[in-house]
Amino acid sequence: MTTGDETGVAIVDAELAGKAAPLAERLAADGAAGRLAAQDPALWGSDAEPEASIRLSWTTLHKSSRPLIGEIEALRAELRSEGVDRVVLAGMGGSSLAPEVITATTGVPLTVLDTTDPGQVADALAGDLERTVIVVSSKSGGTVETDSHRRIFAKAFADAGIDAARRIVVVTDPGSPFSELAEKEGYRKTFLADPHVGGRYSALTAFGLVPAGLAGADVARLLDQAAAVADTLAADAPDNPAIQLAAAWGAAHEAGAEKVVLADTGSGIKGFPDWAEQLIAESTGKLGTGLLPVAVESTEAPGFADHGSDATAVAIGAPAGAAQISVTGPLGAQFLLWEYATALVGRLLGINPFDQPDVEAAKKAARALLDDPEKLKGGEAPATVDGAVEIFGSAGVSTEGKLADVLRAFFEAADAKGYLAVQAYLDRLDDASTSLLRGEIAKRTGRQTTFGWGPRFLHSTGQYHKGGHQNGSFLQITGAVESDLAVPDRPYTLGQLQHAQALGDGQVLAEHGRPVLRLHLTDRAAGLAELVRAVQEAGR
Ligand code: PA5
Repeated sequence: MTTGDETGVAIVDAELAGKAAPLAERLAADGAAGRLAAQDPALWGSDAEPEASIRLSWTTLHKSSRPLIGEIEALRAELRSEGVDRVVLAGMGGSSLAPEVITATTGVPLTVLDTTDPGQVADALAGDLERTVIVVSSKSGGTVETDSHRRIFAKAFADAGIDAARRIVVVTDPGSPFSELAEKEGYRKTFLADPHVGGRYSALTAFGLVPAGLAGADVARLLDQAAAVADTLAADAPDNPAIQLAAAWGAAHEAGAEKVVLADTGSGIKGFPDWAEQLIAESTGKLGTGLLPVAVESTEAPGFADHGSDATAVAIGAPAGAAQISVTGPLGAQFLLWEYATALVGRLLGINPFDQPDVEAAKKAARALLDDPEKLKGGEAPATVDGAVEIFGSAGVSTEGKLADVLRAFFEAADAKGYLAVQAYLDRLDDASTSLLRGEIAKRTGRQTTFGWGPRFLHSTGQYHKGGHQNGSFLQITGAVESDLAVPDRPYTLGQLQHAQALGDGQVLAEHGRPVLRLHLTDRAAGLAELVRAVQEAGR
C-alpha cells in the first residue's frame, strides 16, 4: 500500500517556487496549520465559521478512528465464517471514492456502485448474491442513488430467498434517515460516523475504513501512515508539505493557473486523482473561483505534457515529465496531506472549503423532472440526428450539419483558457472506453479537458462546474437503456433517474450561461464509435 517514499511536497518549477514562497511564509506566520490542527473554525472568515465549526474533526482521525478497526475485523470474520466474502459498496462522492482508492491500491476486490446506469447495477446484481454483503454508505442518509441501490439489493436478496437484513451494513451519521431505517429494518450492523467530518474529508472515518476493511484492506496501516505525518502537517513552518502545496496552488491561481492537472508517476497508489479531484473541486469551486482538478492518464497525456499557463502540473509520486510539483508518501499520509493543503488553500482563495452550495441545484432539477414524467419521457426532440447519435444543444450552441461539424463548432467556440468537460452518463465498466475521449479531445483541441462519469461527478467536480470559474463548455453523453431496472416502491426506474440527472444538470449549467451539447447514443456501441470518429475529424 505504500509508495516507499517519504511524505513530502517538492515544488520543482523554480518560478512557481519563487511565487509560492511568500504565501508559505504568510500561512506559517498566521499559524494557519497549527490552528487547523487545533480545529479553529475562524480560519476562513466569519461567514464560513458556523459550517467550519462542525467540519474539522478530520485532523485527529488517526487517533479517533482506532476503535473502529476491531469492530470492522470482527464483522469481517463473522461474515467470512458464514461464507459472505463479496463486498458491494453503495455510496456517492465522499462515501465511495476513498474506499475505491484504498481497495484498488491494496489489491482487494470491492464492487462500487456510484452509478444510476441500469446495466452497471444489473451486472453487480448478477454477482454471487449468496456470498454478498452490501455496505450502504451515506452521511446524510438521503442520497437518492444510494437509497435506490439499497432498495434494489434488498429486493434481490429477498427474491433469492436470502434474509436481506443480514446482508445490509449501514454507514451513516447519527440520527440520519438511514440510521433510523437500519434500526427499524434490523439491518446487520450500523457504523455511526463522526458527524463533524464532511464527506470529502471522510477517508479515515467509517466511510473510508468500513467498506475497505470488510473487503480485506489493512486499514489500520492507513491510520499509522496518517499518524506518522500528523505533527509535520500541524507545524507552522513554511516547509510543512501541506503549506507548500497550498502555497503553490495559491500562487499558481493568482498567476491565472486555476487548473491543477494530476498524473500518477508510479506512486503505487491506484486512482488517487479521482479522490483528490473531489476534494479539490468541491472544496474550492465556488463564488466564481477555485481550482479545477484535471485527472489525466500519465505525464505524457495531453493536458499534462503540454499544459499551458492556465494549469499547474502535479505529479503524484516522484517528479517526472512536465511536473511542476511532486507529492510523495504512502496513501494514509497523502489523504491527510491533501486535506490540509485543500483547507489551507481555501483560506488563500477566500472561500469556505466545507460547503457545496451549488450541488443541490442539479438534484432539485432532476427531482422536478422525475415529478413530471411526460417531460422526462418525451423530452425535446433532437435538433439533429447523425447515425446513432441524437444531438441536443443549449441556447447558442450550433447543431448545424453532421456530428463532426457540430463538434468542430463546439470546440472552436470554447474559451481557449477555459476547459471542456466530458460527462458520460453511461456504464463505467461496459462503456469504459468512453473515457479515452478525454485525451483525444484535449489533444485535438489544445483545451484542458476533464472527464467524469455521471452521476458520480455530480458529487465531485459538479460543484466546480456551477460554482467555480465560469469558463467551462460541457459535452454530455447519454445512452439508450437496453434493459431498465425498477426502483422498488419508487415511481421511477433507474434509467429514468439517470436520464433526469443528465437533463437536470444540463439545465442548471445552461441557466449559468454555459454551453451544453448533449449527444444521445441510440445504440451505445455504434454511437460511441461514430463519436470517436467525429472527434478525430472535428479536431483536424
Ligand atoms: O463531499 C460531500 O459532502 C459530497 O460529495 C458527499 O460525499 C456526497 O454527496 C454523498 O453524500 P452522502 O454521504 O450524504 O450520501
